[in-house]
Amino acid sequence: MNYEVKKLQTSEVEAVDAPEIVTIPKSVSLQTVLDIHHWTDELFSFRLTRPPEFRFRSGEFVMLGLMDGAKPLLRAYSIASPSWDDGLDFYSIKVQNGPLTSRLQHIKAGDQILLGKKPTGTLVLDALKPGKRLYLLSTGTGAAPFASILREPETYEKFDEVVFTHTCRNVADLDYSAKVVADLKDDPLVSDVAPGRVTFYPSTTREEFRTSGRITDLISSGKFFADIGFEAFNPETDRAMICGSTPMIADTKTLLEAAGLEEGSNAKPGEYVVEKAFVA
Ligand code: A2P
Repeated sequence: MNYEVKKLQTSEVEAVDAPEIVTIPKSVSLQTVLDIHHWTDELFSFRLTRPPEFRFRSGEFVMLGLMDGAKPLLRAYSIASPSWDDGLDFYSIKVQNGPLTSRLQHIKAGDQILLGKKPTGTLVLDALKPGKRLYLLSTGTGAAPFASILREPETYEKFDEVVFTHTCRNVADLDYSAKVVADLKDDPLVSDVAPGRVTFYPSTTREEFRTSGRITDLISSGKFFADIGFEAFNPETDRAMICGSTPMIADTKTLLEAAGLEEGSNAKPGEYVVEKAFVA
């Protein structure tokens, strides 16, 4: 999975004689895998080199992938590290017959990966109106952008408290988010502010755990607020970011809208923002 670049200045993708010599499209750069960690049979994370010119806002996503013959095979991935970090972290599922992740799951340190040049997205602090408490509501790999937001110092400048929820099918699927939260106390930039102000609320739906159930059900029943010790959503003070599957987003939006929160965007900041967790 190491590419020899024929030329970089063309947007044309063309195969040349040797299969490993390919033309990399202009819209991507080649980055090196620094580290890879397999969390379960279905989940892994990896760290890439970051080109100096690659700028993004914490919470954004970028296209990422591999060459598939002469063509790039790219999927949108949330960047799981904050904007100040030297490297770029990603968190991914492994789909055995998925076009990209069936191959991506086998990457090793030193391999090369295609990285898009234009990060974008709505799970950014700029898309939220000022508030006091920030809810980060995620399922599955939807935790990835919140790993970035949780390590972003601006999060704690803008909000007094952060509540991070992560719901997965099985207990082992929570290992990634649990480590993200545990590592905040050693973080170079947010270790002073984050630990006392972040509430982590994990739950599972298909295996016994101390909290079980979908976050939507836990919110509706009042158990969530009783457990964390906060009042129900208040549009004056509470802001939220949602990242999960399409049905999870739809159901969570309904609850936030019912509480009087309105969706925001980069162009028009609001009380909550959403993004689909990408599956490839
Ligand atoms: P469940 O096990 O009840 O389907 P998936 O891996 O399918 O994306 O699911 C990740 C987590 O999101 C699971 O715990 C799943 O619960 C939960 N989930 C799925 N759909 C919804 C929904 N509409 N609202 C809230 N949580 C959901």
